[in-house]
Amino acid sequence: MTRVSLISSSAELRDRLQPLTGSTAFSPAGGTGDPASLLAQFTGLPPEVLIMDCRADANGKLALAAVLIETYPATGVLLVSDRPGDLALPAMRVGVQDILPPYATLAEFGDAVEAVASATRNRVAQLTEVPAEVTRVVPAGQVVSVMSPKGGVGKTTVATNIAVGLAQRAPGSTVIVDLDVQFGDVASGLDLEPHHFLADVVHGAARYDAVVMKTFLTQHKSGLYAICAPNVPSDADKITADDISHLLHGLAAEFRYVVIDTAPGMSETTLAALDATTDLILLSSMDVPGIRGLRKELDTIRELELTLDSRRVVLNFADHKGLLSVADVEATIGTRVDLALPRSKAALTSVNQGIPLLQSGVRDPLTKHLRNLVDRIATPTRPGRTVESPVAGAKPSPQPASRWQLFKKKGTVAA
Ligand SMILES: Nc1ncnc2c1ncn2[C@@H]1O[C@H](COP(=O)(O)OP(=O)(O)OP(=O)(O)O)[C@@H](O)[C@H]1O
Ligand SMILES: [Mg+2]
Repeated sequence: MTRVSLISSSAELRDRLQPLTGSTAFSPAGGTGDPASLLAQFTGLPPEVLIMDCRADANGKLALAAVLIETYPATGVLLVSDRPGDLALPAMRVGVQDILPPYATLAEFGDAVEAVASATRNRVAQLTEVPAEVTRVVPAGQVVSVMSPKGGVGKTTVATNIAVGLAQRAPGSTVIVDLDVQFGDVASGLDLEPHHFLADVVHGAARYDAVVMKTFLTQHKSGLYAICAPNVPSDADKITADDISHLLHGLAAEFRYVVIDTAPGMSETTLAALDATTDLILLSSMDVPGIRGLRKELDTIRELELTLDSRRVVLNFADHKGLLSVADVEATIGTRVDLALPRSKAALTSVNQGIPLLQSGVRDPLTKHLRNLVDRIATPTRPGRTVESPVAGAKPSPQPASRWQLFKKKGTVAA
């Protein structure tokens, strides 16, 4: 059945069209000023057909319809007007597919909705069946992932600081993605109040259109963009590893730096991120369980034969109070430790305030080490990569089998 929604201030019209729209009829009072917040009112996928009653503020509604049609190619628009003759030409110019008078019967609305839905599906099919030569080869951004086998070791602290540090170098071209899909706290670490979340970016029209995707990003003061974890943990179930592969491929084509915060361990989602990663930061605390976990994670990464540009082992909470030294850790994991981050009181204040150290610039040894890490990341060790990016509105060509899929086949990853 076609997903139909209605925006109308008329209770009579909302009631009459209820058999078509179900519970997705709204009064325009609820913040419909821009297409993203308008579509955010609809739970689940965006409507295939949006009926907009433009008896009041016809010009405003037409302008909104124009932006909506441009940015959400999978949603067709049908207008309701008591002067369809006057509106026909401007409506046609912006791509509205039909106009009905308010007194049209339910059956007439039903027929018009089906015609609009069918025309929209054809248009989307044309957009998504773009031959390979219509893709363009663009420089690929660096994808920096912060991972650890154990929780609470400072991944979010490091990821948010790196992201802010990179955004200071490339404002408007750095994005952080919170892949701790159940309990992510990037939003709180950056003091953000997102209106849109990871699920909005990986599903619906945003999946196929970079312009639409960008309307769902949350902006931070530093010029950083953020894709925050779902605000309801159960929404995490709707996000697959394939969604993540697709998203990261698209982001790498659009942004100079993509920074990823992850959940502890190696879920399918984390492996999908690993597959797209150019710069890996493996983080651990300096205790025996943490270091053992780190060794296992390093073994797994070696087995995956990833083509990383850099892989850095970073120890956190490094101080002289623990029993282990950096040399002990290196002997256990069989590789060099690249950086040891000191324990710092400023970290706790920073997380409580939602202001990363590199944003406040507070003078502290940890701030200095984090800045040093940003400098190293921003000095790439390999020549720039490229990535195939679809032209606007086109569906990217299928990705080759990801390592997480191969890994899953080997039975190493829990489904
Ligand atoms: N170097 C440090 N010195 C002092 N406190 C720190 C340091 N690094 C992180 N912290 C604090 O440790 C706590 C855990 O950090 P954080 O949330 O970044 O870890 P995480 O690995 O993301 O945790 P989770 O696995 O639960 O997502 C936070 O309160 C943070 O402020
Ligand atoms: Mg975290």
